[in-house]
Amino acid sequence: QIIALRKWKSQKSKYFCIRMNFETEISRRRTFGIISHPDAGKTTLTEKLLLFGGAIQEAGAVKSNKIKKTATSDFMEIERQRGISVATSVLAFHYKDKKINILDTPGHKDFAEDTFRTLTAVDSVIVVIDVAKGVEEQTEKLVEVCRMRNIPIIVFINKLDREGKDAFDLLDEVEQKLGFKVVPLSFPIGMGYDFQGIYNLWEKRLRLFNEGNKTQISDSIDFDNINDASLSDHIGEQAAGQLREDIELVTEVYPSFDPSAYLNGEQQPVFFGSALNNFGVQELLDAFIEIAPSPLAKKSEERLVNPDEKNFSGFVFKIHANMDPKHRDRLAFVKIVSGTFLRNTPYLHVRLDKKLKFSSPNAFFADRKEVVSTSFPGDIVGLHDTGNFKIGDTLTSGEELQFKGIPSFSPEHFRYINNADPMKAKQLAKGIDQLMDEGVAQLFTLDLNGRKVIGTVGALQFEVIQYRLEHEYGAKCSYENLNVHKACWIETPETNHPEYIDFARVKSKFLAKDKQGQQVFLADSAFSLQMTKEKYPALEFHATSEF
Ligand code: G4P
Repeated sequence: QIIALRKWKSQKSKYFCIRMNFETEISRRRTFGIISHPDAGKTTLTEKLLLFGGAIQEAGAVKSNKIKKTATSDFMEIERQRGISVATSVLAFHYKDKKINILDTPGHKDFAEDTFRTLTAVDSVIVVIDVAKGVEEQTEKLVEVCRMRNIPIIVFINKLDREGKDAFDLLDEVEQKLGFKVVPLSFPIGMGYDFQGIYNLWEKRLRLFNEGNKTQISDSIDFDNINDASLSDHIGEQAAGQLREDIELVTEVYPSFDPSAYLNGEQQPVFFGSALNNFGVQELLDAFIEIAPSPLAKKSEERLVNPDEKNFSGFVFKIHANMDPKHRDRLAFVKIVSGTFLRNTPYLHVRLDKKLKFSSPNAFFADRKEVVSTSFPGDIVGLHDTGNFKIGDTLTSGEELQFKGIPSFSPEHFRYINNADPMKAKQLAKGIDQLMDEGVAQLFTLDLNGRKVIGTVGALQFEVIQYRLEHEYGAKCSYENLNVHKACWIETPETNHPEYIDFARVKSKFLAKDKQGQQVFLADSAFSLQMTKEKYPALEFHATSEF
C-alpha cells in the first residue's frame, strides 16, 4: 500500500511539475506587433529591441521588409523582398526571463491586408509615431483594426532628436485621431538640438544623454522627486523648471496608469524616445515586459479557448509561398492558442477533417530558423505545406473548433481577370486558387455571368499576381478594368425578405460571391452604396466579411 501511495505521489508531483512548467512558459511569453506609417522608425525600433535582447550583435542586421515604391515594375525586387519578409516574419528573442515574439508587418500600404491578418495573431501592439509628422494615414487604418479587437496598445513617439511637434499637442492629436486615452509613462526633456533625455514616470528615473554626445546614454538616475533642487545639476535650471511644469501638467491632465484599462484597450501608455539613438528603448522594453499581456484567450465559433488548456489548438494567419518555383511547397504560419504543439504528432485540420503531422516545424529567431519539438501558446510555428492550408484554418488535438477573427476587408482596386493562354486554363485556375489561399488578393465571382474579379488593397498586387502566375504556375492572365468602389458583405434578415428580393433584382449586375461563397455587393460608387443603404434599411452592408 505504501509503495502504491509513493508511486501515486510521485506521479502527481510529476504532473504538477509539467503543469507548472507549462503555465510558466505561457506567462513568460509576449507576442506582439509593431505598427507605423512607413518611415516612422518601425524597423529601427525592432532592431534596437533585438539588440537589447542580445538577439543580434550589431545595428543593420535586420533587413527592412519595406517594399520600396520603386518596386512597382521591378519584379526581382519584389521577389527579393518576399525572401526578406519570410526571414523577418517572426523575430523571437529572450529578454530577462521573458520570451518575446515580434510579428513583423509589412510597412507598404499595398500589403496592408497582410498586416491586418498578422494583427489577429498578436496579443498586443506598439504603435510608432514620428514626432514631426504626428499621426499619419496608415497608422490610423492599422489602429482601427487593433481597436476592433481591443488589443492593448503602447505608443512610442520616435525621433525626439529632431525638431517636432510640441509633446502636449502631439498627445492631443493621438487622442483625437486614434481615439486613444493616453497616459504618458515617460516625458521628453527638450527636443531636437536641445533634447537632453527623458523623465521616466513609470520608474521615476531620469535618463540623459551624455553631455555633447547624442550617441552615449548615461545610466538612469533615480529621481522620485523632481522638485528636488539637484535636478538643475543634471539638466540645467531652465530645463528643470520646464520639466517640473510639464510633469505637473501631465499629472493634472492625464489619468494615472491603470494596467487593467490598458489590457482592455481603454488606456494607452505613451513613451518618448529616439530609436536611432537607442534612446528611451530600454524604458519601453522594461515597461513592456511588465505590463503587456501574456497570450490571451481567443474566440472560436464554438467557445472561448484559453491558453492554459491541455489540448493543442492554433490557427493559420499567414502563408508564404516557397521562393523556389521547382518546389511548390509553402510555409504556413500557425499561432498557438492553447496546449503544447509537438513535432511528429497528428493534429486535426478542422476544415479538411484530416489528420496531419509535421516532421519539421520551424521556430523563428532573429538570426535563424530551426526545427522545434515543442512550442507553447503565444509561439509561432512555420509548417511546410503542400497546399492543405489557407488563411484562417484551425488545427487542434481533435476538437472541432474554428477560430474567429480573420476577416477579409473590402479591397480598394478591382479588375476582371482573364485567361491569356487558353491551353493553360487549369494552371491558371490552380494558381489563382492558391494565391487567394495565401491571401495575396481576393477573388469574387459575379452571380450574373460567372466572371472572375480580383480585388486588391494596392495596385502592386496585380503585377505580383501576373508575375507569380507566370513563373510559378506557367499560366498567363490579363486584366480588364472594372468600376467598383467597395465590396460589401450583405446581411439580410432572411433570403426571402421582400427588401432582399427587390435588392437582388435591381442590383443583380453588382452581386458576386467571395471565395467562401458569401454574398457580396460590388458597389460602383460611394453614392450608389449610400443610396442602396437608404433604400433597403433592413439589409446591412458590412465592410468586412466577419460581422
Ligand atoms: P519604418 O520601418 O517605419 O519604415 O522606418 P525605418 O526604421 O526604416 O526608419 C525610417 C528612417 O528614419 C530611416 O532613415 C531611419 O534611420 C530614420 N530613423 C529612425 N529612428 C530615428 C530616430 O530616432 N531619429 C532620427 N533622426 N531618425 C530616425 P533613412 O535615411 O530612410 O534610412 P537609413 O538610410 O538610415 O536606413
